Amino acid sequence: MSTNPKAVMDAVRTSGRHEPLLEVRDLKKWFPIKKGLLGKVVGHVKAVDGVSFALGRGETLGLVGESGCGKTTVGRTILRLIDPTAGHVQFDGKSVFDLDSSHMRALREDMQIIFQDPYSSLNPRMTVAAIVGEALLVHGIVKTKAEARDRVAELLERVGLSPKYVNRYPHEFSGGQRQRIGIARALAMHPKFIVCDEAVSALDVSIQAQILNILMDLQEDESLGRPSYLFIAHDLSVVRHISRRIAVMYLGQIVELSMTEELFDQPSHPYTRALLSAIPRPDPDDKPQRILLEGDVPTPINPPSGCHFHTRCPEVMPRCSQEEPPAFLVSGTHAVQCWLYDGKAPVSETGMTVGFEV
Ligand SMILES: Nc1ncnc2c1ncn2[C@@H]1O[C@H](COP(=O)(O)OP(=O)(O)O)[C@@H](O)[C@H]1O
Ligand code: SF4
Ligand SMILES: [Mg+2]
Repeated sequence: MSTNPKAVMDAVRTSGRHEPLLEVRDLKKWFPIKKGLLGKVVGHVKAVDGVSFALGRGETLGLVGESGCGKTTVGRTILRLIDPTAGHVQFDGKSVFDLDSSHMRALREDMQIIFQDPYSSLNPRMTVAAIVGEALLVHGIVKTKAEARDRVAELLERVGLSPKYVNRYPHEFSGGQRQRIGIARALAMHPKFIVCDEAVSALDVSIQAQILNILMDLQEDESLGRPSYLFIAHDLSVVRHISRRIAVMYLGQIVELSMTEELFDQPSHPYTRALLSAIPRPDPDDKPQRILLEGDVPTPINPPSGCHFHTRCPEVMPRCSQEEPPAFLVSGTHAVQCWLYDGKAPVSETGMTVGFEV
């Protein structure tokens, strides 16, 4: 197979076999900063500043990076929970940003989100039956409340909760149980795509593993339609477990995208190397030297010129502050946006989409 991702992608497109479920191209979300009585726009927070990737059917892509780098904004903009500034999102053959509100409503059945804090996202006055069954009734999947209750009981079992909990309220559950309710709610409509936004970040490590396992089991289930996940976390060790590929974000951009094992075996962007060196390892002899990054994360209001990472990069070169690096291929399934790889093949105009088709 060709190692040129553009050629591979064109080939699979024409064969129609591996059409991605989701394609995000040059996505930007700039939040205006307004001042004064008239709300004059005096600048922008460039939360997402040119993000491209593709996601296959039934695939999980991990999206990692420090807090504030734009992960949540990527997820919410794709779902059109917030309006994009620029870019293109193709989902299941539809151009998401061009849909009118009625078509968008229909598409919402297929695109769900699981939040970090299930407590604030679950209505405290609604029973589990109402929370999980609401969408089924609204979309006419079931006709009566009794039918909805049966479906909810089934869904609860799937996420490892006793069906006898259907009449309870969110406050009666632990954090891990509430996250299971959030998953049951997201799965009720058998969506094709779920954004898991820090879905396990607030939970104890042992509970994290249980929830990750549930998400992975459910994804294997043909009867649930094998949803794709965009799995967002600030912690690389959390996404490693669940992701087939991983995208690393820094200041509104994806700086490295690779198959998961390749990223851990051969981290190529200096930022990824720093993130990896901070992960505790069971074997102390196997520990790479911790790379401490100098300085704070710069603000996305005025990101540094050239490579956004140049103000903190241990390997910075003179050109890095002048010219923004394009993405280069370090293998057919691994792209990195850094001048250290100048001379390697540049990634095609479809951006950091490598690897979904493998
Ligand atoms: N509604 C908003 N208005 C202005 N700035 C925002 C808004 N939402 C997020 N931001 C800013 O955008 C940047 C990215 O935020 P976010 O996507 O939440 O990052 P992450 O999820 O990676 O922590 C941050 O600087 C944040 O302060
Ligand atoms: S382009 Fe330069 S500053 Fe940016 S990550 Fe690479 S070496 Fe560091
Ligand atoms: Mg976030």
